[in-house]
Amino acid sequence: MNAHSDIKGRRSAKGGKKQSCVMSRRSFLLTSGIATATVMVTMNAGTASAAKMPAAVATYPRKKIAKLSQLKNDQPVEFSYPDEGAYSTNMLVKLGTQAGGGIGADRDVVAFNYTCTHQGGDMEGTYKGDTKSLGQCPLHLTTYDLTRHGIIIGGQAYQSLPQILLELDGDDIYAVGVFGLIYGRQDNLKA
Ligand code: FES
Repeated sequence: MNAHSDIKGRRSAKGGKKQSCVMSRRSFLLTSGIATATVMVTMNAGTASAAKMPAAVATYPRKKIAKLSQLKNDQPVEFSYPDEGAYSTNMLVKLGTQAGGGIGADRDVVAFNYTCTHQGGDMEGTYKGDTKSLGQCPLHLTTYDLTRHGIIIGGQAYQSLPQILLELDGDDIYAVGVFGLIYGRQDNLKA
């Protein structure tokens, strides 16, 4: 299974009826790229010198970014993730309506990177509460749907907006990963 095969956002073969574009939480996590910090690998498997060795694997930090009880509908909160480097500014928002990857009792709290995937336009301040969207991008007018994993509503971009994976621990919200590649990076963990 890959990220795209499980997204229900396309028209069905019969009838052309549009479906909702929401991945299951399990699929979302499986395709998110979260890695464990350390894994054991077998070197020289099948030989007399076979041995298990620890292998370092890059992993996303777990960063506390807000308290759920302090969020207000349609009022974004800015935070940096996964580091303080280029294009790491994101927004956390309580949409007031259920969204793909949403956390909280209403599954309506999501977070996205602020940088347009097309050519890096800064979309800070462009959130629209009436349509639950981010944009238009000031450069070429792309708009992204925050209820459906940041897919493109319209404009010049051709990749969805990177979604920040969230976890809720009591009232604390943590950023724990990124779903999608941040603009300007070949690896989300290398600024
Ligand atoms: S940089 Fe955003 S649409 Fe081109």
